[in-house]
Amino acid sequence: MSNTEKGINTICTHFGGVEDTKFKGAVSPLYMTTSYAFEDVDVKRYPRYFNTPNQEALCKKIAALEHSEAALIFGSGMAAISTALMTFLQAGDHIVLQQTLYGGTYNFAVSQFEKFGISYSFTTGWKVEDFEREIQNNTKVIYIETPSNPLLTVTDLKGIADLAKKHGILSMIDNTFASPVNQNPADFGIDVICHSATKYMGGHSDICAGTVSSSQENVDKIFSTAICFGGSLSDYTVWLLERSIKTMGLRVKAQNENAMEMANYLAANNDVEKVFYPGLKSHPDHELAKSQMNGFGGMLSFELNPEIDVSEFFKQLKLIKPSMSLAGIESTVLSPTKTSHALMSPEDREKQGIKDSLIRFSLGIEEIKDLIEDIEQAIVKVKSMTVPA
Ligand SMILES: Cc1ncc(COP(=O)(O)O)c(C=O)c1O
Repeated sequence: MSNTEKGINTICTHFGGVEDTKFKGAVSPLYMTTSYAFEDVDVKRYPRYFNTPNQEALCKKIAALEHSEAALIFGSGMAAISTALMTFLQAGDHIVLQQTLYGGTYNFAVSQFEKFGISYSFTTGWKVEDFEREIQNNTKVIYIETPSNPLLTVTDLKGIADLAKKHGILSMIDNTFASPVNQNPADFGIDVICHSATKYMGGHSDICAGTVSSSQENVDKIFSTAICFGGSLSDYTVWLLERSIKTMGLRVKAQNENAMEMANYLAANNDVEKVFYPGLKSHPDHELAKSQMNGFGGMLSFELNPEIDVSEFFKQLKLIKPSMSLAGIESTVLSPTKTSHALMSPEDREKQGIKDSLIRFSLGIEEIKDLIEDIEQAIVKVKSMTVPA
C-alpha cells in the first residue's frame, strides 16, 4: 500500500502493524523482549537499536503519516528533538531557531549548545526574511515550529524549505501542534519532522514519546546518534502508541471543530481581550495557514480582560482542567508563564509576546456547548468575586 494513495484514517488504522501470523489477531502482537537469538549477523535486534518488531512496525506507520521515507520513535519529544539536532550539528556549526518556540526546546538550545561549541541565533519574527537575516556561513540547520507554542504563529513551510535549500542548510520542524492530520511538512520540502508523540499521536494523556521522520539517508544518520544517546521507547509504550494512533484522525478532526467553535465564541466575548487561533479570519497568518494546513488544529490561546484573575479563573473551571500537557481527548488549560515557558526569562517572554494573562487552551473531544458553559460560569464567578460589595 502506498501512503500517498490512502486517506489519513486508513493510514492510522492499517499501516505499520505487526502481523499476527500465528493466531490472525486483529491487533499487533506485543514482543516484550530485550533479547533476540541471532538469525544472521546483520540482524541484531535490541530495544536501544530501535529495531524490535513493534518499534520497526510503528516506525512504518509514522513515516507513512508524515509522507516520509523513514522514521524513528523515541522515549519523549525532547529525546527526538535533541537527538535529531545533535545529529546535524557539531562544534563550529551555527543554527537558526524560530523565536516562538516550545519552552523545552528553547531551554535545550540556551543550556546545551554552547558547551558543544555550537552557536545559535533566535529570529526576531517568524517570516522567511527573519530567518534569512540570521543565516551565517556556518549555519547548518534552520529549526521552525508551526503553529507555534503558545502563540499559534504560522511559519511559511515552502518558504523555509526553499530558503534552506538555497543555502544548502537542513530544515527541521516541530510539527507537534498540528499533528500529521493537519499538516505534512515533507510535502512542502521540509527535511526533518519531529513530534512530541506525548501529544496528538498518544492523545489520551497516558504516553510519553517522540518521533522523527525524514529521508532514509537522514534517518540512518539520526539512528547512529540515537543509539549513543539511548532514548528509545519501551515496547509496551510502542504498542500503546500504535493503538492510540489508530483513532488519531477521528480525534484530531473533532478537536479541530471544537477549537474553531471555541475561538469564535471567545472572539465574540467582551471579557476576552485577544484570541490566537489560525482558523480565525482575523489571525494575521490565516491565509498562509489555509494554504498549508488540512485543518487549523485543536490548540488556541487567549487573554482575558486584565480585571479577571487567571489563577482564580482556573480554580472556578469545573470540566476543563488546568494541566501541564496538551492534546488529550480532555480539554485542558495552562498559563505558559508558569509552566511551559517558565524557564524563559521574563524579558524573552515579553519579546515573544507571552503575557502573564495568556491562557493556552487545548480542546478535547467533549461537547462544545459543555465547554462553553464551563468557561462562561467560571468568568461569571470570578467577576462576581472582584465586584466591590
Ligand atoms: C510543541 C512541543 N514540542 C515538544 C515538546 C516536548 O515533548 P515531550 O514532553 O514529549 O518531551 C512539547 C511538550 O510539551 C511541545 O509542546
